Amino acid sequence: MRKALRIGGVVILGLLLVLVVAISLTIGWRPFIGPRTRPLTGRKFEATPERLARGKYLVEGDIGCLDCHSEHDWNGPGGPPIEAKLGAGDVFPLEGLPGRIVAPNITPDPETGAGNWSDDTLARAIREGIGHDGRTLFPLMPYEQFRAMSDEDLAAVIVYVRSIPPLRNPLPKTEIIFPVKYLIRSVPQPVTAPVPPPDFSNPVQRGEYLVRMADCVTCHSPMVKGQTNFAMAFSGGFRLIGPWGDVTAVNITPDPSGIPYYDEQLFLQVMRTGYVKARKLNPIMPWNNFRHLSDDDLKAMFAYLKTFPPIKHRVDNGEPPTPCRLCGGVHGAGDRN
Ligand code: HEC
Ligand code: HEC
Repeated sequence: MRKALRIGGVVILGLLLVLVVAISLTIGWRPFIGPRTRPLTGRKFEATPERLARGKYLVEGDIGCLDCHSEHDWNGPGGPPIEAKLGAGDVFPLEGLPGRIVAPNITPDPETGAGNWSDDTLARAIREGIGHDGRTLFPLMPYEQFRAMSDEDLAAVIVYVRSIPPLRNPLPKTEIIFPVKYLIRSVPQPVTAPVPPPDFSNPVQRGEYLVRMADCVTCHSPMVKGQTNFAMAFSGGFRLIGPWGDVTAVNITPDPSGIPYYDEQLFLQVMRTGYVKARKLNPIMPWNNFRHLSDDDLKAMFAYLKTFPPIKHRVDNGEPPTPCRLCGGVHGAGDRN
């Protein structure tokens, strides 16, 4: 009897050990113990005219804060956010999300918006993925990209977002399905060291920073089971279905299946007008923001695009969506890969 108990105990211990090793090697412990986070500080970002101007420029032109956090008129040119509801939030209208994802009201309304959230609460949400209530934010909010936002640009963005008109707009809460709700807890990472700006005098570095802040990579790479395939970065493949229609972001690498024929002039034209010559782009491509960027910033973006390794991956919205063996998704011209 005793011997049987002892053997039983050893077996259970052994199984537990296997489980511990398996969890450590696969999803890790964060889904159980919660996200990595840091305590909030009392820091405040002084509202200087320079910060207000830089924040407005970045948010209107490059970083889509108000693009995601607003309702849109998808029939208007470029699918613009509705001016009277700017920043007041929206239930995210993308199909296939794991639950109801709500981009919250970030206007300074104290009751339904960000009016009572401290500067550091906002800073932590933007770069580190922790909500005002300590919750892990769904990484559709691009905090993994925003981690690289320089301290000064972060201050500028927050000063600007705090300056937009407060709007009362109660919204439902985000409800993420099991197990995704727990799995995302391994994504947030605290920012504990200063983040310097890139070398803005170097076009490629400047372009890389702008492209990262605009989160081009999430749309312009394959997305399979909610995961971006970075091995095929910028080769297109994320199919976006919603009130704007059914469209897949295309290959923007210099491969023949991408945009090898682009020159600086065509790139600026596309980013400013939403047309590639006579072909009109679907308004989910946020050219309506990018058109506000300066020539120098757009040229820097293009200089960086030209450094992408060419990746062969045909994506063509003029063809019906079919399974693609290269990215594992379903998109226009998928069967031609
Ligand atoms: C691609 C779309 C997208 C972009 C771009 C975006 N957000 Fe978000 N944001 C979201 C979504 C969706 C959530 C909600 C996530 C959740 O509920 O888990 C969110 C959450 C937040 C929160 C957390 C609110 C809380 O509950 O504490 C803040 C603050 C915020 N965003 C501010 C910003 C700012 C500022 C920017 C620009 C620097 C920005 N967002 C850019 C989609 C976006
Ligand atoms: C919200 C998703 C999204 C983001 C973010 C996004 N794009 Fe796009 N982009 C698209 C989609 C979808 C298309 C295809 C539209 C179509 O075919 O009608 C597209 C098309 C393009 C095209 C046209 C290619 C052609 O067919 O000639 C270029 C160039 C481009 N994007 C560059 C960029 C750059 C650079 C960024 C970042 C600064 C960016 N995009 C960010 C979704 C996105």
